[in-house]
Amino acid sequence: MTTTDQERVADRLLRSTANVNYDPDIDLDWSAPLEPGKRFVLPRRSSLYGTSLWDQLTPEQQIELGKHEIVSVASTGIFLESVLMRMLAKHTYWGEVQSSHIQYALAELGEETRHTIMFAKMIERLGTPRYGPPKVILRLGAALTSMAFGPSLWGAILIGEEIVDRWQREVAGDESIQPLIRMISRIHIVEDERHVGFARAELLRSVTKMNKFARAYHRIALARTAFIVSRLMINPRVYAAVGLDPREARRAALANPYYRETLRYGGEKLVAFLSEAGLIGRPGRRLWRMSFLLG
Ligand SMILES: [Fe+2]
Ligand SMILES: [Fe+2]
Repeated sequence: MTTTDQERVADRLLRSTANVNYDPDIDLDWSAPLEPGKRFVLPRRSSLYGTSLWDQLTPEQQIELGKHEIVSVASTGIFLESVLMRMLAKHTYWGEVQSSHIQYALAELGEETRHTIMFAKMIERLGTPRYGPPKVILRLGAALTSMAFGPSLWGAILIGEEIVDRWQREVAGDESIQPLIRMISRIHIVEDERHVGFARAELLRSVTKMNKFARAYHRIALARTAFIVSRLMINPRVYAAVGLDPREARRAALANPYYRETLRYGGEKLVAFLSEAGLIGRPGRRLWRMSFLLG
């Protein structure tokens, strides 16, 4: 992709941003009551679905677990957006601010700040704890933002966006899901479609300059990121909310073929794209397999 192509992509994304964008304060009705009986996640996407622990839960507890699980995913989303915003800020710091692609990165930063507030408000609205990552992961995230560049920077952004995006697309139009969750998903899908398009285009530009040592570095960096992100999605503390032992339930979830399928489904498009770009393979393939995103 040439510089002109890069600017053309960014111009299109800037036009789309000007035409369709959301303000979660105005576009969401935060005072609307939750609808009784409606779910927060699809049952088959619950991490314990199909296990004997799942069968021990009452239907109400299954819905309650889903609520804590979606909050866990949103809490991880807040963390990932924070990493992403640091990376975008790093990109714009070195860039030419008159160019469309740097202006688009700034527009995306604006959207991510609003997403983070939207997810934070959602957690507040659902009245659960926030299931943010432990300190050691926060430190790793900060290290990643300074060490990642080119393919590992854009690839990490895609890992942060594409998995959750895939799950949100499933619930956005599903009547059995709480309207608040569906609307949040819809807002996020529309804006993240642009973010994914931008990161994919930038990644493809950056991989052309990779020699074999750089390729190994980026493969390892992305495999580690993918593994950590996959394990962060469901914080084991969510299980305590329905009276389950977090360690036992975590073990059951990671061994659960339905949950592995959920992760594979989330990673499907991302994995296809990164493989095509030469960023999944040895070294690092084992970590991808352990993440269950690879299938
Ligand atoms: Fe976002
Ligand atoms: Fe995004």
